[in-house]
Amino acid sequence: MSDKKASNQMWGGRFASGPAAIMEAINASISFDRKLYAQDIRGSIAHSEMLAQTGIISAADQEKIAHGLNTILTEIEAGTFEFSTRLEDIHMNVEARLAELIGPAAGRLHTARSRNDQVAVDLRLWVKDECFRVAEALKGLIAAFLERAEEHAATVMPGFTHMQAAQPVTFGHHCMAYVEMFSRDLSRVRDAIERMDESPLGAAALAGTSFPIDRHQTAKALGLREPMRNSLDSVSDRDFALEFLAIAAICATHLSRLAEEIIIWSTPQFGFVRLSDSFSTGSSIMPQKKNPDAAELVRGKTGRVTGHLVGLLIVMKGMPLTYGKDMQEDKESVFDAAETLDLMLAAMTGMVRDMTVNTAAMKRAAGAGYSTATDLADWLVRTLGLPFREAHHVTGRAVALAEEKKVRLDRLLLEDLQSIHPGITADVFSVLAVQNSVKSRTSFGGTAPSEVRKQVRYWKKRLAKA
Ligand code: ARG
Repeated sequence: MSDKKASNQMWGGRFASGPAAIMEAINASISFDRKLYAQDIRGSIAHSEMLAQTGIISAADQEKIAHGLNTILTEIEAGTFEFSTRLEDIHMNVEARLAELIGPAAGRLHTARSRNDQVAVDLRLWVKDECFRVAEALKGLIAAFLERAEEHAATVMPGFTHMQAAQPVTFGHHCMAYVEMFSRDLSRVRDAIERMDESPLGAAALAGTSFPIDRHQTAKALGLREPMRNSLDSVSDRDFALEFLAIAAICATHLSRLAEEIIIWSTPQFGFVRLSDSFSTGSSIMPQKKNPDAAELVRGKTGRVTGHLVGLLIVMKGMPLTYGKDMQEDKESVFDAAETLDLMLAAMTGMVRDMTVNTAAMKRAAGAGYSTATDLADWLVRTLGLPFREAHHVTGRAVALAEEKKVRLDRLLLEDLQSIHPGITADVFSVLAVQNSVKSRTSFGGTAPSEVRKQVRYWKKRLAKA
């Protein structure tokens, strides 16, 4: 007795009742998989209908089962259902309550089924629903960007490489870069939906079943395209969850880059945008401050979403076929990533919609840093027929001179420019102004306002069909 107590003190800790309590605590998933209740009940109703239709159970029992399951759905939604940790997970909680409600007929529901295919179908249904939610949210964000892009198709700002002003671009063009990124996220979501649109239900524990089930029927009833073709694969892979997490992580990374830009743009030093009060906070000690907390949190939460992807990849990488309890660890990653991503998308859509764009500050910055140097070089090539390398050299000397005189390139005198290359004429000033620089970049996908408007029209049309 005293021995048992001693060892229990060593590894038992707060688990007063010994190994059984520890086992229950490590084993139970009900605290989080209760989120699957609707999918679990949908799956069970579809399964019971199929069992009745194939004559495996009676129509009378099926009716009782379906009625009981619907009662449970109502109880859970009303908050009156009592979840029990002792009953481990959502599947057993529902089944135990069904037995209380309808008696022995409840025992027939689990014919030709296992919790292994049950949990696989539940989670698939949940992830598929979430993918549709993410697709809608992405469409909202893309629409917000299209509005801003149209409004600012001709607003010049500095374009950066290495975070150094490189060439002037338009803010509309910058917005459209995000339209492209989030549209690819949207297409990834759609692809993933296609692939996960298969039903594992009926794989039973792992090997299929000797009962004459109809897996096509249950797949169809659950809105899934067809049954999965291998029972071992059905219960053992979670690549649909990984794919969702990968999409979430990529999308979060896009959101995080945008968040970082918004944070930089809203500093007083940049002053390119002002966030609306609803998406910023004040400081408790420094009255002058307006902090971009929502953007910072989007950036911060990206770590969490990516962590969930890495976490589940690592859970899965060592798993021999087929099911192992390790896989119970899939759900919290998926649920938290989903909830986090939904929130990030909503916050970012709000920020993009509401932020005030300071076009004057953008324009000022666009002209700084000799940002039209490439335009000068291009002009020398186009007008004077200089080889690009030589034009690059001449331009470098012009920049050095501007630096020496502490003026912008377009403020150099014609004589100054001619002292560097005598062929330069006053026409060069037409490309040295930032507005003209962006206007000239009419190549497909370029920053010219005319091209930006073209791309806005293209995406508006495409989004309407998406
Ligand atoms: N709660 C379990 C899970 O999430 C359900 C499947 C249990 N299967 C089993 N063979 N113990 O994975």
